[in-house]
Amino acid sequence: MKLLISLLATAASIQTVVAWGAVGHEIVATIAQIHLHPSTVEQLCDILPSYADCHLAPVAAWADKVRMHMRWSSTLHYVNGLGDHPSQHCVFGEEGWAGAPEHNVLSAVRNTTMWLEKGYPGAEEALKFLIHFMGDLHQPLHLTGRDKGGNGAKVKFDGRITNLHSVWDSRLISKTLRTIPRNYTLPLPSRRIEDALLGTIYDPYIRQIMFEGVLGRFAPMIEEWTSCPTPDDSNSRLYPPTEKFHQLPLRASFQSENAASGLTPPPGLPPTDDGAVCPYSWAAPMHALNCDIIWPPALDELTNTYLELDTPEYAGRIKDDWLVEQLLAMGGIRLAATLNYLFAADGAGPLYYV
Ligand SMILES: *[C@@H]1O[C@H](CO)[C@@H](O)[C@H](O)[C@H]1NC(C)=O
Ligand SMILES: *[C@@H]1O[C@H](CO)[C@@H](O)[C@H](O)[C@H]1NC(C)=O
Repeated sequence: MKLLISLLATAASIQTVVAWGAVGHEIVATIAQIHLHPSTVEQLCDILPSYADCHLAPVAAWADKVRMHMRWSSTLHYVNGLGDHPSQHCVFGEEGWAGAPEHNVLSAVRNTTMWLEKGYPGAEEALKFLIHFMGDLHQPLHLTGRDKGGNGAKVKFDGRITNLHSVWDSRLISKTLRTIPRNYTLPLPSRRIEDALLGTIYDPYIRQIMFEGVLGRFAPMIEEWTSCPTPDDSNSRLYPPTEKFHQLPLRASFQSENAASGLTPPPGLPPTDDGAVCPYSWAAPMHALNCDIIWPPALDELTNTYLELDTPEYAGRIKDDWLVEQLLAMGGIRLAATLNYLFAADGAGPLYYV
């Protein structure tokens, strides 16, 4: 019996090493949970499986677990632009996309959002996919096809051979989890935040991302994160934003006209973006990070040795820039904004952290 238990424990810990590891996905989902309107939670309770107990995190890694037997879903976790080759050359759809255009992470966010909005049967599956794909969208290596999104790019991290994708899925996060300031083991004076925490080892990290990030250095950016460029062509608006989106999740008003990026999807992309949910416009600046910082130029220079990435110049710079924390926070807040857009009651007011 003891042996059986320890085997199970090993299986569980192997499970946590795949994709934005389960931990990354659960952090995104928990940050989203913090920003859900109470009337949204009420609706989601009816859709989520009972084991989730009205919380997004318990289902956040589901899509990775079913990837092998729902094979049609496996390409929905990423998108690859043709001709894309970080760090030298970053193109995101300008030269077209690899694979079927309706089978990538951008169209999957659109499809599952539409599925929930229309109330089609199978809402539980669509919701579990949406929670996961919004996380994948915020892992920049899910947005490039070079070396299978870095899975084939061998590197070292802390002396151990791994690959670039795993560094971004889990190694940077696990390193950070070992060094969170002790004060974050104590509750923050916010019921909204504390009520969403599930008693996990990464609770202190979420407190830090919320306190120093979302309520601190990221605060001026939140409105832009949840905005979408207003398309000139009203036909490309599949689902025009409604009033309720503009009130949620955090502020009394959202001005999608103020969106900074102003990007329009390149030709060949199905209309994934509208004025409320815009996976292409959200992803494009994150994809550019692959050339800016994520894909080290030195990876193309070294021949007979693996490049160590747990260095001040690489991991240290990413930490100093709060880059991983920003991606996790963006993913969570956009997921909440999308779910509030879909499910919050008409006239639902702003949210407060207290
Ligand atoms: C859209 O999402 C639904 C719900 O999960 C799924 O059944 C369907 O296969 C998806 N379609 C595509 C093209 O991914
Ligand atoms: C926790 O400690 C860090 C410094 O180690 C400080 O910057 C931060 O403001 C503290 N957080 C809270 C919630 O007191």
